[in-house]
Amino acid sequence: MLVVPMIERKRDGGSLTPEEWSALIAAYTEGGVPDYQMAALLMAVVFRGLERQELAALTDAMLASGQRLSFDDWATPRVDKHSTGGVGDKVSLVLAPLVAACGVAVPMMSGRGLGHTGGTLDKLEAIPGFRTVLSLAETKQQVQRLGCAMIGQTPEIAPADRRLYALRDVTGTVEAIPLIAASIMSKKLAEGLTALVLDVKHGSGAFLPDLKDGLELARTMIALGEDRGCPTVALLTAMDRPLGRACGNALETEEAILALRGEGPPDLMEVTYALGVEMLLAAGVERTTSKARKKLEGALGSGLAAEKFEQLIEAQGGNPRVVEDPAVLPQAQAVEVYAAAATGVIARIEPRTIGRAVVAMGGGRLKVEDAVDPTVGFVISAKPGDKVLAGEPIASVYARDASGVELAYEALGRAIVIVDRLAEPPLPLVSHRVTKSGVEDLTRPRPGPKPRAAPRG
Ligand code: URA
Repeated sequence: MLVVPMIERKRDGGSLTPEEWSALIAAYTEGGVPDYQMAALLMAVVFRGLERQELAALTDAMLASGQRLSFDDWATPRVDKHSTGGVGDKVSLVLAPLVAACGVAVPMMSGRGLGHTGGTLDKLEAIPGFRTVLSLAETKQQVQRLGCAMIGQTPEIAPADRRLYALRDVTGTVEAIPLIAASIMSKKLAEGLTALVLDVKHGSGAFLPDLKDGLELARTMIALGEDRGCPTVALLTAMDRPLGRACGNALETEEAILALRGEGPPDLMEVTYALGVEMLLAAGVERTTSKARKKLEGALGSGLAAEKFEQLIEAQGGNPRVVEDPAVLPQAQAVEVYAAAATGVIARIEPRTIGRAVVAMGGGRLKVEDAVDPTVGFVISAKPGDKVLAGEPIASVYARDASGVELAYEALGRAIVIVDRLAEPPLPLVSHRVTKSGVEDLTRPRPGPKPRAAPRG
């Protein structure tokens, strides 16, 4: 295969044919194209983008590089949720059992921490014994028996994405809308879903901070899903501050368990319910937002969702007692309180600084083969907009030792900005809903019924 002319054509603003993309990805997956050529082509895509038919061909080729989960003629609707990544984002741990408790199957395939963002698999693996590696056959069997499974990308699913993703991670080619869209959708389309809900983050802690880019990514992924028979909807949610209070693997798992027991922080619950409503509507088990929300609240309030999480943990080899007693989770050696440095209003809690600090404390990876320490991280009780007094406790740090505590204090000092008067409010938590029909701005008041004309005379 002559790859150099393809790289040159893409570099100069031309496009590759669908047949070329298909042959190239097949050859790359089998080791027939060297990484350096693929890296050059990816960089050309970062600068030149992809035509619509090129993106479709790339996604299809990545999808075709592996197997697909097939539920044959099983009638139960299957819906997954995928987030583009954030700090403190433990929504998946609450949502999968919650939605499964409402009668919708959730075959959820998640990732590990990436850069400054945390990963669902690392959070689940904080539970002693929890196995995130299941074969496709095991996953299918568990989804049909329990209604949910939470697994990592198996070697059978989209192997081309595995190789491409690792290459992009080390060649500065992650942040490109068509490459992110093809990567996410090639995996999601292999899950045998009846519908997909996307949580596209925007704000300074997101991979694509600009709202405009977030909306374009959402539209791109929706078009890929819809064109392949998978109805897809996206919500744009805020990542200009961490979601919830806990950041760090075991701490986030504990917060998710508390949420399933009805004690979740309001921002985490708002995002979880908004996405859950979309999942129930997409599955067709409810027809209106208010009914879907009531169903979710009922499953949470009755304890059914927490019970479902217990069953899921047990099925995947973990200690289910963790749901009753989160102290089963590994505990940090050094725990200290952090106090507000000044009196005023919290203007910012910078998520990238917090996420990077968790990684530096040992809670994330600098190299793929690094082990993560599940115990370290932060619980930040204050939120942007809160008034605080100097010396008032606003966070706790969880570290391995005194040097970890010092690192954490220094990061909190940089991440938390206290001002006299708030200049700009934080981003709305759930700001836009995107479907194949267009974008709905959820922050605009909806037009009410037209006022009746006053009677004449
Ligand atoms: N998540 C993925 O799976 N792929 C990307 O490219 C970015 C985020």
